[in-house]
Amino acid sequence: MSYFSYKNGVLHAENVALTAISQQFGSPTYVYSKAALTANFLAYANACKQHSRQADGALICYSVKSNSNLAVLQLLNQLGSGFDIVSGGELLRVIAAGGDPSKVIFSGVGKSREEMRLALSHDILCFNVESVPELHRLNEVAGAMGKRAAISLRVNPDVDAKTHPYISTGLKENKFGVAYDEALSCYRTAAALPYIDVAGIDCHIGSQLLDDAPMLEALDKLIELVDQLASEGIHLHHLDIGGGIGITYDDEQPVVIGDYLGRLFARINAWREEKYQGAPIKVMFEPGRSIVGNAGILLTEVQYLKHSEAKNFAVVDAAMNDLMRPALYEAWHGVQTVSQRSTAPQVYDVVGPVCESGDWLARCRSLAIEAGDLLALMSAGAYGMTMSSNYNTRGRAAEVMVDGTQVHLIRQRENPADLFTLESLISP
Ligand code: LLP
Repeated sequence: MSYFSYKNGVLHAENVALTAISQQFGSPTYVYSKAALTANFLAYANACKQHSRQADGALICYSVKSNSNLAVLQLLNQLGSGFDIVSGGELLRVIAAGGDPSKVIFSGVGKSREEMRLALSHDILCFNVESVPELHRLNEVAGAMGKRAAISLRVNPDVDAKTHPYISTGLKENKFGVAYDEALSCYRTAAALPYIDVAGIDCHIGSQLLDDAPMLEALDKLIELVDQLASEGIHLHHLDIGGGIGITYDDEQPVVIGDYLGRLFARINAWREEKYQGAPIKVMFEPGRSIVGNAGILLTEVQYLKHSEAKNFAVVDAAMNDLMRPALYEAWHGVQTVSQRSTAPQVYDVVGPVCESGDWLARCRSLAIEAGDLLALMSAGAYGMTMSSNYNTRGRAAEVMVDGTQVHLIRQRENPADLFTLESLISP
């Protein structure tokens, strides 16, 4: 079900016309649907409830990097989510949104000492450690604080996620995680460190995966390691399978969350019965895109129509600095006109005002539009605002959250003059 639909010829977010949002908040503006976010989170939560065995529990740690607006985090926290963070800044966001650090896991290949101290001082649930040097640093930082750090090792299972090379992370040649063949020895090292508690195992093989076969393959490889570790007396309490489930941008048909979790838990439950007399292991997930991606759009206004010999351009007021995915990955986002016209459509490239040929948002789209019309760039809730920048000294877009007939401003539009307040002139 889409929470963005036409009513009387005007595109709405839930029950609010996007024309009204543009009048009140201007453009470009990111618009999120609270109902969509809720439904997407509950797809995970309900499937966990249905398929996990009560004793094991399950924890969904929303991947903050996909959309880190405080109101988004607040909502997910209220729904019971934990959080997967990749920086100290993201931890501060989770706390500011009312999130519980004891449900936070910290991923990422480059954690600084300061970030480790911050996370330890808030007693986060677990560090997803990605290398042996990181393990030693964490041991040292925890020791100096008189604490112990719970860790899982991010294992690189060397499976092909069959997704865009920039967002595939589970192959040998990627920078992420500990190589599968080295995992056992890393765990032995970890188990011998005085300020480290070995808690779990994790992986994340890539993003925008349409099929769950690669994740189930990765799961089998993790299970093998858990068994080998158990035979050496290293018992893990949780297994984190990462995020990565894709969404429909165009005509992709991603696996249904409930079906994926059903298959995953069936495998895990059978394994625990067979090998551990049913002893529990907590299962964790780190979804981002599948929760927020289709819960948001980027609203933009056509500034000019430009017709050249080779192409027609619709120059809009959003740009690559607002939504970087097309420029960076040649990603495809649907474009919908907010009000529908009956005039004949023409084929346009939708481009922004930034001074780069790479500044395009959509190519070769058939649109019936005039200057001043509003467009919605669809499926922009994930990796949209969080990857935006101030390139060309453009203030970043406003963000609003729609809840039924209500609209909440959840981030003010940036004022360009504020963008250089941290800068100084040098004295002559
Ligand atoms: N866990 C880890 C360790 C990750 O690195 C990521 C995403 C996730 C979870 C969440 O993955 P998701 O469920 O959202 O697929 N900027 C790119 C996507 C980069 C993904 C980075 N890692 C894009 O716009 O497509």
